[in-house]
Amino acid sequence: MNKKILVAGATGNLGERIVKALIKRGAEVRILNRKETDPAKTKKLTELGAEVIAVNMSDTQGLKLACQGVSCVVSALAGLHDVIVDSQTLLLDAAIAAGIPRFIPSDFASDFTKIPEGENRNFDLRKEFHKYLDKSPIAATSILNGAFTDILSYKTPLYNPNDCSVAYWGDNPDWKIDFSTMDNTADYTAAAALDSATPKILRIASFQISPNELIAIGEEVKKTSFNLVPMGSLEEFSASNKRERAAHPEGEKEMYPNWQVNQYLYSMFSVQNQPLDNNRYPDVQWTSAIEVISKI
Ligand SMILES: NC(=O)c1ccc[n+]([C@@H]2O[C@H](COP(=O)([O-])OP(=O)(O)OC[C@H]3O[C@@H](n4cnc5c(N)ncnc54)[C@H](OP(=O)(O)O)[C@@H]3O)[C@@H](O)[C@H]2O)c1
Repeated sequence: MNKKILVAGATGNLGERIVKALIKRGAEVRILNRKETDPAKTKKLTELGAEVIAVNMSDTQGLKLACQGVSCVVSALAGLHDVIVDSQTLLLDAAIAAGIPRFIPSDFASDFTKIPEGENRNFDLRKEFHKYLDKSPIAATSILNGAFTDILSYKTPLYNPNDCSVAYWGDNPDWKIDFSTMDNTADYTAAAALDSATPKILRIASFQISPNELIAIGEEVKKTSFNLVPMGSLEEFSASNKRERAAHPEGEKEMYPNWQVNQYLYSMFSVQNQPLDNNRYPDVQWTSAIEVISKI
């Protein structure tokens, strides 16, 4: 079996972890980066054995050559329309032109397929790219990992160890939120990239935890009592996010303006990964909630 995988966005937080996981799994890794990428960022990846190809992202011939001979293209690019729609479309076209059978787009999110347009700007960019991807003659697989566990340390009201509080939106403090560590997501993505028969969507979570369970773990870890804070209905949250977005158009040029972070929180209380595909690769060692929360 051809175990050569191309990773775009390999100098990023998730991308680098995917490269390391692929190498650990015995893959040959080629990374694709922009000509302007700082060479210091790729140095450690070449030291691990990855082959580096630097191209201009608008150079269709260069992109096609970079794709040649791999069995799967993995995108871990991050950005707005110019990246998630424009650059990924060029990368996808190059993969198709080079005859590559499989493509993993940079989705790595909650299940945006179940969230209506207008509720989450960054998910709408993925939906726009998928309209093109779904019509293309390539087997694509989305890895939907819920929220990265990092958000638990971002000082959002969801988990606030300073105030000893946990907030929730909607009417159910037992609603289970999907969380995955970047390392688990990267390892699973590496396994999926090397698996020639993946379905269109793989849903995963290192753990699924409710606000009430977050309180129990917070209390265990911090040895003090926590408060549960109801933040109002999801309808009110959605409306307030839309107002905030309209009031702060400068955020349209940023990846994570405040209103986008709130749109992610809204999504976390709106969709759930069911059923999970965690067991597809039994060697992935899932991190538990207590392991993550005890480090915050
Ligand atoms: N579910 C969640 O909670 C969650 C949270 C965070 C991220 N994510 C998702 O995870 C994925 C990876 O995110 P990340 O945080 O690892 O991103 P990151 O650290 O910002 O890395 C982004 C990568 O994309 C490359 N890139 C950026 N702009 C580009 C462009 N115009 N053309 C080509 N390459 C470009 C960067 O290359 P350079 O090194 O050249 O800049 C870098 O390799 C994204 O899909 C992101 O939305 C999900």
